[in-house]
Amino acid sequence: MDAAAVTASPAGSAEPLSRLAGADMARVDLLITARLESPVPVIPALAQHLIAAGGKRLRPLLTVAAARLAGARDNECLKLAAAVEFVHTATLLHDDVVDGSKLRRGKVAAHLIWGGSSSVLVGDFLFARAFELMVEAGSMRALHILAKASSIIAEGEVLQLTRAHDLNLDQQTYLDIIGAKTAELFAAAAEAGAVSAGAPEREITALRQFGFNLGIAFQLVDDALDYGGVTETLGKNAGDDFREGKATLPLLLAIARTGARETAFWERTMTQLNQTDADFRRAREMIIGTGALQATGDLSRHYADEAKTALGLFADNDWRRALEDLADFAVTRVT
Ligand code: IPE
Ligand code: IPE
Ligand code: MG
Ligand code: MG
Repeated sequence: MDAAAVTASPAGSAEPLSRLAGADMARVDLLITARLESPVPVIPALAQHLIAAGGKRLRPLLTVAAARLAGARDNECLKLAAAVEFVHTATLLHDDVVDGSKLRRGKVAAHLIWGGSSSVLVGDFLFARAFELMVEAGSMRALHILAKASSIIAEGEVLQLTRAHDLNLDQQTYLDIIGAKTAELFAAAAEAGAVSAGAPEREITALRQFGFNLGIAFQLVDDALDYGGVTETLGKNAGDDFREGKATLPLLLAIARTGARETAFWERTMTQLNQTDADFRRAREMIIGTGALQATGDLSRHYADEAKTALGLFADNDWRRALEDLADFAVTRVT
């Protein structure tokens, strides 16, 4: 890559958006904490364990930013933003049980403390609370968008469960899976924000497209970071996908590029799940050495650029620039 290409690929940051949306997000956080309350003590305890650990809050930021970019002056988007983070948090609780992950947001995964059953049931509680908030927000259309996204996320997780151990998985099916399990919520978060602001249809469509493309870029990098990232900064264990035998794009590309020479290695480690830490290091070397990691990053850049293009119809202002910065951040993030 030459210097010009590096300059043409900005680093990005979520900071400008977090700063612009600071006051709104403080109110969203208050709503989140208030709505965790329940007379059943394990519910707030388990949910707080995950929510107090932080997280980037990208999806509610998207809802707020979409509403403000579309000109919202009232606070109708805030309940929707809190609902979106509740949906995300619910999926994380469920996902860590399904994936057998031990670390989330730098803390021991909730299911290892309270058990898988409690984690799943508190996830259900958070989903239900999310829908209460959506109803209170009072927009039938936003409710419809987020309800549909919730069922698509579940479909994506189930599709992944049934297909992701297939080492011949084609790239389109992989993209369908990450589109459903991740990008759909990014899309719905932005779309619902725009709807709550009463934005014209073409702006609603543009913000949905921004969210969807951002979500794909985001998950591609997430899958790259499972090999190229560091547990300490990620707050979740690098190598989880490999240990699980999950066929993500970096792996699929490396399998294709190493060809017949490594078939036995991939079969043993990924299909039979007969693997050691040294096998993970070897897989990582091949993923880097074949350029599979770089290619995944390049594809993420493509989707981030598509996301930015979708914002073309908005006037050049602070909110638009902050969203563009967020798209670049999705590609370059290490956290
Ligand atoms: C984690 O999402 C789940 C994926 C879709 C990869 P985030 O990386 O946004 O999680 P938090 O909320 O910041 O912890
Ligand atoms: C995240 O999937 C998507 C959802 C939670 C729906 P992953 O399993 O790929 O994400 P991490 O790596 O656990 O965050
Ligand atoms: Mg997972
Ligand atoms: Mg998963």
